[in-house]
Amino acid sequence: MVFFEWKEQYELGLPHIDLQHTMIVNMINELYMSLETREEEDTTSKVLAKLLCYVEDHFTSEESAMRENNYPDQDAHLAAHDAFRVKVTRLHDRHRAGERIAGYELSEFLKDWLLEHIAQVDKDFGAFVFQLSEKAKEAFLRQNPDHPLSKNTHTRNLG
Ligand SMILES: [Fe+2]
Ligand SMILES: [Fe+2]
Repeated sequence: MVFFEWKEQYELGLPHIDLQHTMIVNMINELYMSLETREEEDTTSKVLAKLLCYVEDHFTSEESAMRENNYPDQDAHLAAHDAFRVKVTRLHDRHRAGERIAGYELSEFLKDWLLEHIAQVDKDFGAFVFQLSEKAKEAFLRQNPDHPLSKNTHTRNLG
């Protein structure tokens, strides 16, 4: 059984963010396996470091997307990312200091945090970007009623 199974319901509808989330889920599974099978410390450290590095890249891309779109709730979203950074850095330090952190404790924390964050905080941002693009599309079609996109939308609505 897979520790953390990706489900369609987690998707935001923003393809590059969704892809990053699925990659993070894969890495959490990899970390879980590494910790549970008590692989060499070196292997676990590398898997954990790779995961944290990828999460940081992911946060950076979400944060710049929020800035670009003038997202009104970006401060709260950034604060959530920062809280995660603090918590995970503490866990990583404990691991680096030689403490054997239970695979379950670490992987379960990452999984729970990610699921809750995606379901609430990331989803709100996804919905905001979707609304923006819908508004932009409507404005474009109002100005260009004969554009092929207008016909496609019309046909889809009829169908
Ligand atoms: Fe986020
Ligand atoms: Fe995210």
